Amino acid sequence: TFFIVSPSQAQKLKGKNIEAVLNEAYIKYKDVEEGKNADYIKELANVPSDLFGIVIVTVEGKVYSIGDVTDEVSIQSVSKAFIMAKVIDEIGADSIAHAVGVEPTGEVFNSITAIERSKGKKINPLVNPGAIATTSLMAGRDSVQKWYNIRNTLNSFAGRDLDIDWNVYNSEANDNKRNQAISMLLLSYGRMYFDPLQSTDIYTKQCAVSVNAKDLAVMGSTLANGGTNPLSHEVVILPDATQHALSVMATSGLYDDAGKWLFYTGIPAKSGVGGGIVAVVPGKFGIAAIAPPLDEAGNSVKAKLAIHYIIEKLGVNPY
Ligand code: DON
Repeated sequence: TFFIVSPSQAQKLKGKNIEAVLNEAYIKYKDVEEGKNADYIKELANVPSDLFGIVIVTVEGKVYSIGDVTDEVSIQSVSKAFIMAKVIDEIGADSIAHAVGVEPTGEVFNSITAIERSKGKKINPLVNPGAIATTSLMAGRDSVQKWYNIRNTLNSFAGRDLDIDWNVYNSEANDNKRNQAISMLLLSYGRMYFDPLQSTDIYTKQCAVSVNAKDLAVMGSTLANGGTNPLSHEVVILPDATQHALSVMATSGLYDDAGKWLFYTGIPAKSGVGGGIVAVVPGKFGIAAIAPPLDEAGNSVKAKLAIHYIIEKLGVNPY
């Protein structure tokens, strides 16, 4: 398939000392003090701000890591990329393009303006409205089945059973007016595919799944490997769905800073307000970093710096 590593590509990475590059990035950025934990979800303000870990998982299943790689944060919006990938795999690329949309909004991740100006059509599965609509499209007759499938999907991408941080879930569920309004607005435009409030609730649970940097890197490496988890060898999705998912990550993974990110790295990625970012180098590796303090757009400051540095040093920008 498209994702099989050509000998020349594999060679290119082999010539580099991945461990040394991870170390350099860690040392270079570990004391950066810019940014601030998300606090619009109250529980996120309590996560230690100095957490910092970076992990690479290659398509051959090699794991490289540095820093706090077993500490967990909530996955938040990083989940959107993987749920999108699974739903594309299930219903097809045309269906998701039609039912949800695949246009970058250029707006903040919970923008209502972005919905309103296009009657809900020019959005994508990586901003809150498109993500809730995508969750509403997950297989399952009722909310129990849909949640079961969402959880299984994230577990398969990570290759282990992930926990839910119920404190994070409760803190967000008790203060969820904006996402509820977003889902009702989409419903008014005929673009929600299951009960809007239940869909918002499942999406909120999905965002409260706990992951460490290694989990995120394994999840990324599964996309890098055409949908097969390189550690568990499970076929989570097919390569075709992977290609479409990575394209949306390239245009919209870092919200209103997605353009800048792609400009500097050339690599599809997805961030979350828990402080995680995962980036995917197709045919080579998944890389993830976790560091809770965020910039204005809601992206982890240190994770961005570290992943950008490593991608450049390893020379993997495909453009
Ligand atoms: O819906 C929300 O606002 C959060 N559960 C997730 C947002 C998020 O992670 C955006 N990330 N940068």
